This record gives sequence, C-alpha cells and structure tokens, in this order.
Amino acid sequence: MTNWQKSDWRAKPRVQMPEYTDVAALNAVEAQLAKYPPLVFAGEARRLKAALADVSNGDAFLLQGGDCAESFAEFSADTIRDTFKVMLQMAMVLTYGAKVPVVKVGRMAGQFAKPRSAPTEVIDGIELPSYRGDIINDLPFTAEARIPNPQKMLQAYTQAAASLNLLRAFSTGGYADVHQVHAWTLGFASGDNASKYREMAQRISDTLDFMRAAGVDSNRSQTLQTVDFYTCHEALLLEYEEALCRIDSTTGLPVAGSGHMLWIGDRTRQPDGAHVEFLSGVQNPIGMKCGPSMTEDDLKRLLAKLNPENEAGRLTLITRFGAGVVGDHLPRLIKTVQSEGANVVWTCDPMHGNTIKSTTGYKTRPFESVLREVREFFAIHKSESTIPGGVHFEMTGQDVTECTGGVRAVTDEDLSDRYHTACDPRLNASQSLELAFLVAEELSDLRQSKQAQAV
Ligand code: PEP
Ligand code: CO
Repeated sequence: MTNWQKSDWRAKPRVQMPEYTDVAALNAVEAQLAKYPPLVFAGEARRLKAALADVSNGDAFLLQGGDCAESFAEFSADTIRDTFKVMLQMAMVLTYGAKVPVVKVGRMAGQFAKPRSAPTEVIDGIELPSYRGDIINDLPFTAEARIPNPQKMLQAYTQAAASLNLLRAFSTGGYADVHQVHAWTLGFASGDNASKYREMAQRISDTLDFMRAAGVDSNRSQTLQTVDFYTCHEALLLEYEEALCRIDSTTGLPVAGSGHMLWIGDRTRQPDGAHVEFLSGVQNPIGMKCGPSMTEDDLKRLLAKLNPENEAGRLTLITRFGAGVVGDHLPRLIKTVQSEGANVVWTCDPMHGNTIKSTTGYKTRPFESVLREVREFFAIHKSESTIPGGVHFEMTGQDVTECTGGVRAVTDEDLSDRYHTACDPRLNASQSLELAFLVAEELSDLRQSKQAQAV
C-alpha cells in the first residue's frame, strides 16, 4: 500500500492496549526506540515469507512455538537454550518422520504483550488492572505493579536483542549442527519419548556415517550444520511496533523490525481496528488467529485487507477452536478462503481453545485435548483436500507441570509442583516431543496417501 503510514493505526479503534498515564514518558520511550537498530533485517523477513510460500504448497511444514508470555524474571541463557533445543528436537522428529523441511519460528525475542479476557482481576475482594505482560506492567498483585510503565518497552527491546543474539549464535555456531543430534538428548529424563527420540537420533547418525563412508562429507554442508531459526510474537503493543518499524532499503517498503513474523490475536482482529491497520502495511509475513467467533464475512474483509496482492507466504491463518468443535468452524473458513481464491498457510494452535480451570484451581490444558484438536485439524484438511501447513503452540524446554497428561502423566495435583508460566500453561519438553511424534505420524500418513493416489 503506497500511502500507508506507520502511525495510521492511531486513528482507528484500539482494544487490549494500555492507557499510559504519563504521556511525556511514553513519547520519550518511543523516540528512543525509533533511534535504536531494528532487531531483524528485512531480507530475513523476506526469506521467511518465501519459506512460508513453500509451506502453503505443502513443500514444507511450519513449527511455531515458545512461551505464552516471555518474562523478564525467567530470562536466562539456559531458558533460551532449552526452548531452542526442544524446537530442534521437534523439527528433527518432523523432518525425519514426514520427510519435509521444517520452518522453525520461535515465540521468542519479543513475545511480551498479552491480551486479557478481562481488564481487571479481583482477588479477595480487591480489584486491580489485569497483568498485560512484562512489556506493559508487572505480575505481582499490587496497585503499583499493575500501572502500565512505558520504560518497560526499553527492557523488552534489550531482552529481545540479547535473546536474538544467542539464538543466532546457536543457529549458526555449531549447536544446531545435525551431527549434534545425540548431544541434544542429554538431560532427557527417561520415558517413552526419550527412547523413541534416541532411536531416531541413532538412525540419523548412522545415515551421516553412511554418507561419510560413501564420500559425501556432511561436515562441510552448511545445510546440515546450521539452521534457519526465526522469531515471532503477537503485535499487540502498537507503540512499540511503530517505533521499530523501518523502511527496507532494498524495496523502499515498510517492515516491522521487532521480529520476523508478527501475528494478530483473536481478540484484536477487527477488520477496521488498529491492529489490522498496522499489520496491513508492513511487509513481513503475518499470522492471524482465527477462533470460533471468526465470521465468513470478517474473514473475507481481512483477507482483502491483509493480503491484497494475494502473495504466497504473506498470511498464515492460525486456527484455534478447541477440541471437538474444529469441525464446526474449520470447514466454513476453508470454504471462504477457497471462494476468495486466497493464498494462505493453514496452521493449528491446539492450545488457546483448550484452556480450563483444574480441580486444584490452576489454569491448565489437558494434553489429550491438545492432541485431539491437532488430529481434527489434520482430518478436516484431508477431507477438504487442503494443506495442513503447521502447528503453533505454547511450550518451554523446562520441565514444568502446567498442562495435564502426557506420557509422564501430570495430574491436577501435580500442577502446583512446577507451575511457572506468567500467563497460559505451556507444554513441557516431554509433552512437546510427544506432540511432535503425533504430528510426524499424521504427516507421514498424508504423504503415503498422496503417494498412493499418485500411483
Ligand atoms: C496467544 O497466542 O498467546 C493468544 C493470546 O492467543 P489468541 O489470540 O489466539 O487467544
Ligand atoms: Co497464550
């Protein structure tokens, strides 16, 4: 869009954004961020868009995962490494099982701002503004902590820059080398997933040995020694996003500099709202969450507004309906996309439609429901002959007890042991791997049925 301005969203109705009381302080922070270097380079965002175009054709699979909300307190090299490692393990399971390249995108280095179901929270009769993520206010339940503070944007920027720096180092500095496939298993607790993974790792290293013996030196292969790892987050706090928006010197077009891929949440996707306005103008690949309340009419308007050129890889629809009701919504949205002739990547977020309160009072997600939504997503794409392009989920490399179930069965009573999330419950390392094995199976079935049809 030629006359789009990065500040145009300010004239549109906004929801889920903080009301900063100290406007002078806000303006000073925005001015400072606008002078800082962008966190990502426009060429990387273009490369990710091209990779997502492959996903939209079924030639690659999108793996998107990480924290619900990154936290300032939990920030450490170990946390980043462990999440990155689990994503690599999952990608390995998918690549090996499904025989497709995996596009890896972490909900990392910028996933700080949270939409909330209610503007305030009441505990013991005291009502305070809700916590909205570490980039906006603080988690402790005190009046002071809950005041939105623009200075926090600077800390978020710094944390994102340091996270990205480490992720880039891990991606290209040797850690992600496929020859390390065994080393990534260190620290695994025992259990079915671990032994399944170890077996696969053994087969991969046998293949590498075979290649070496046959004269193919995989140690010299860039492709096997490094990975492309991208970052994404919900573009919720538009003051931050606008301040980091830059003009790409190659194309002369605006690019969000805060992360490679940005998405619009299920609560902020009003076709005439501020969030859609901002994301319509940046060149990055973007995502949009689609929950049960997405109407066919709104989807049509959003497709036209967010991807007017119908560019492949530009728009990823992240569906999140809840186990048991995918069949009520996904087919009607698929029909809408088809009737518009729109190019999209379809991906499944099996987390946000499956949040419940446990008997012990914790917000949790039964792992069974997560798996069930993934299965329904694949089954519907199969019957509609459309492409299930990826999965999007909340996970951590830490051994937390936030979602119930899984092979190492977390119960309602276990939730209090290691419940660390600042927002929604995440899959732990073992549950994430279990999910990857299920997805790999689904993808491999799909490949086999395609091959059978081709014969
Ligand atoms: C999220 O991804 O953390 C989120 C809030 O999702 P949704 O917008 O789908 O509710
Ligand atoms: Co969440």
